[in-house]
Amino acid sequence: MKEEQLRDLLNSMSLKEKVFQLVQIPGQYFLSGVADTGTKTDGRPTDEELALVGSTLGIFGAKTTADIQMQHLKRHPHHIPLLFMHDVVHGLRTAFPIPLALGASFSPELVKQCSAAAAAESAASGLHVTFAPMLDLVRDPRWGRVMESFGEDPFLNAKLGKASVEGFRGCDGKMPEKGRVASCIKHFAAYGAAEAGRDYTGADLGGRQLREFYLPAYREALNAGADMVMSSFNAIDGIPATGNEELLRSTLRKDWGFEGVLISDWNSVGELATRGVCSDLRQAAKLAMHCGVDIDMCSFAYARHLEALVCEGEITEAQLDSAVFRVLELKNRLKLFEDPLRGVTPAGEERTILSPVSRALARKAVCECSVLLKNTGKQPLLPIAPERKTVFIGPYVDSKELHGAWAVSTDPEDTVSIRQAAEEFARVQGRQFIFSKGCRMTCREDLGPKSEESAVMAFREDAFPPQIEISDDPMLKEAVAAAESAETVVACLGEHRLMSGEGASRGELTLPEDQLKLLRSLQLANRNIVSVIFTGRPLDLREVCALSRSVLLVWMPGTEGGNGILDLLTGSAEPGGRLSMSMPYCLGQVPVYYNHFNTGRPKAENTKIPYYVSAYIDIPNSPLFPFGYGLGYTDFSVSGFELGAEKAELRNAAEAGPVTVRAMVKNIGPRCGQTVVQLYMRRPSAEALTPVKELKAFQKLALDPGEERELVFTLGSDAFCHVSADGSLHADKGTYRFTVGLNSESEDWKSLELL
Ligand code: GLC
Repeated sequence: MKEEQLRDLLNSMSLKEKVFQLVQIPGQYFLSGVADTGTKTDGRPTDEELALVGSTLGIFGAKTTADIQMQHLKRHPHHIPLLFMHDVVHGLRTAFPIPLALGASFSPELVKQCSAAAAAESAASGLHVTFAPMLDLVRDPRWGRVMESFGEDPFLNAKLGKASVEGFRGCDGKMPEKGRVASCIKHFAAYGAAEAGRDYTGADLGGRQLREFYLPAYREALNAGADMVMSSFNAIDGIPATGNEELLRSTLRKDWGFEGVLISDWNSVGELATRGVCSDLRQAAKLAMHCGVDIDMCSFAYARHLEALVCEGEITEAQLDSAVFRVLELKNRLKLFEDPLRGVTPAGEERTILSPVSRALARKAVCECSVLLKNTGKQPLLPIAPERKTVFIGPYVDSKELHGAWAVSTDPEDTVSIRQAAEEFARVQGRQFIFSKGCRMTCREDLGPKSEESAVMAFREDAFPPQIEISDDPMLKEAVAAAESAETVVACLGEHRLMSGEGASRGELTLPEDQLKLLRSLQLANRNIVSVIFTGRPLDLREVCALSRSVLLVWMPGTEGGNGILDLLTGSAEPGGRLSMSMPYCLGQVPVYYNHFNTGRPKAENTKIPYYVSAYIDIPNSPLFPFGYGLGYTDFSVSGFELGAEKAELRNAAEAGPVTVRAMVKNIGPRCGQTVVQLYMRRPSAEALTPVKELKAFQKLALDPGEERELVFTLGSDAFCHVSADGSLHADKGTYRFTVGLNSESEDWKSLELL
C-alpha cells in the first residue's frame, strides 16, 4: 500500500478503531473465542472490541494464525490485519543455546545464523514480530534474566545485537524479508541494572553509565534496522522507563531518530499506576502516550481510557494518529495488506520446524558456546579417551529440559538428552556407558516440567534441604557404586531451567545442595571427575572446581544439547566459548565485571595486607574466571603485539584513527583448535572516570597445530569516542593504552598518543 493510501485508511477510521490499533491482547482471547463477558471495568476486551484489536502475542502455528487472521479481516470494519508477535528469543521450536551462551560464542556469524533459523520457524508459523534480541547489559548474576542477555560488555552486546537483528529480519532495507520476522529489541532501557538482582526494580545509575554502558547495544541494533523497541519495566533514576519522557522522546525519538513502533512491556503501562507515578490507569495511559508508547501490551489502559483522553483534549488526535500510523506502517512493511497470510501454509511450517539444518546448527552452537573452565592434569580428562570406562551421573543425565526459561514454545520431547546422545554414540562406537541419576534436580523432585509455577517456588524453599545420608539414599548409593566402577565420571549437574529467567532472581549462586552432596560423594569414590554444568547464569563454582578435574560450562544448551555435549566430551568438537559474563569468586563479590572504573586506591597484585585499599579482607577482587576466559583442547600464544603508530591525530573532537594493531597468534598445542583473540583499550580519563579496560575488537579463529597467523585490528573513530553529557560523540586527547590477549586479564600494554 502506498503512503497516501495508508493515510486515507487512517483518516477513514473512527476514534475507537484508531485506539484499538494500539491495543495488544494475549492470544488466548482469540483462541478461546471470548464471549462478550467482559464489562468495561474489569479490563477484558468485549467481543466487539476483539474485532478491532491491532495485535496479539503468544500464539503461533500456520493454521491457527491463518484462521484467526481470516476471521479478523472479516470482522474488522476496515479489514486491517492483525499482527502476531511472540518471544522467539533463542528459537521457536528448535531452541538454540540461551543468549548468554550465544554471547560466549564471540561469533556474530553464529548469532546471525541462529536468529535467521529462528526467524524461518517463526515466519513459517505465522508470526510477524519477535520480541528479540534482548540487549540489556548485565552485571549481576542474581538477576534471573542474565540468561537472556549477551553479557556484561557493551561492545560484544552491540556486535551480537546487530547480528541478531540482521538474522531475524534480513539485512536489506526497511522491510523484513519473507521467511523472516520484524525484530523488536528490548528492554529499553537498562533493565539489566536490576537493584540487588531483583526483577522489576530500578536502575540507580546516572546519565554517563546509561550512555556509555547500557545504551550502545540498543542503538547499534536500531542502526541495523530493528523495527520495534520495547520499553522496560524498570525505573531509571526514579522514573519508570515506560513513562520516561527523557528516555523515550529525547533519546530514542529525537536524538536517535527512531520512527518505528514503540511497544510497552507486559502491563508496564498499568504499572505506572502501581508504582505510583500515576494516580490511576487513565493517567498511566496519558503519560505513556505522551512519551510515545504506541502499543499498550496487555494493560488495557489504552483500551479503557485513550478514547476519553482524546475526546477531552488531554491527548491530541494528532498524537493518536502518529501512533496509529506507525502501527499501520509496520503492517504495510510486512505486506500484510496485500498478503495477510504471508504465504504461510501448514505444509511449509512442517518442512521448516525442527529441520535437520536447524538441528545441525543448534548442535554446532552448543560446541561454539560451551566454555571449558578447567581441564587439569598431565593427562587431562577431556576429551575423554575412547578406552576409558565412563559413567554419566547426575540429574541432567536424563533431563530433556535443556532449553532455558525463555524457549517457551519448545517441546522437551524434541530435545536430545545427554543419555540419548551417549547411547547413540555408544551404539555407533560399540561401547558401553553406565548412567545413574544420583540425586534430584532440587530438594523437591516431585515437580514435573509442567508445574512451572510450583517448580520455581520450590527452589526458593531450597535453602535448607533435609540432610540425607548416603546409606539412606538408594539413588546416591547406586551413583557412588557406578563411580567406583569407572575410570571417568561425567557429573551432569546444574540449575533447573526455571531457576533463571523472568522473575527468577536468586539470593544464592551455588548449585542445589543435593547436587553438591552428590558431587562430594562421587569425588570420594573417584577423583577423575568431569563436571558438566547447566546454568542460566554465572554461579559460584568454587566447590565444583575443587572437586572436579575438568569443568565444562554448557549454559542451557537447547534442543541439541545432548548431541553437542557428547561431541565436546568425545573430542569430535572442542569448546569454542569464552565467558560473556564474569564468573564470580562468590556471591559476596557480586556485581563483578571486568570493565569497572579505577579506584583511588587500587589493590596492587602484590599487596599482602589489603587494608586501606579497595579490596576485601577475606576474598580476592578478581572473579573466579574473568570475562573472555575459556580453554580449548589445544593451546595458543599471542606475541609480537604492535601498534601501527605511536601517535594519531584527533580531528574535530570526534574523528580519530584509523589505528592498526597487529599481533601474532600461534597454535602451540597438539591438535587443531580455535581461540578468541581480544583487543582491550584503556582511554585516558578526562572529565570523568573511564573503565580500566574496554573490549574494542575480537577475532575468533581456528589454527592447525604449529600454525601461526598475524591478526590486524583496525580501530576507527568509534573506538576512541564515547558519548558525552550532551549525547554527542567525543574523543579525548591523551594516552590510549592497548593490550591483546586471550581474556580480559591481559596486561601487556602498549601506548599511543592521541593529539
Ligand atoms: C514479559 C517480558 C518481555 C516479553 C513480554 C511478552 O514480561 O518482560 O521480555 O517480551 O512480557 O511476553
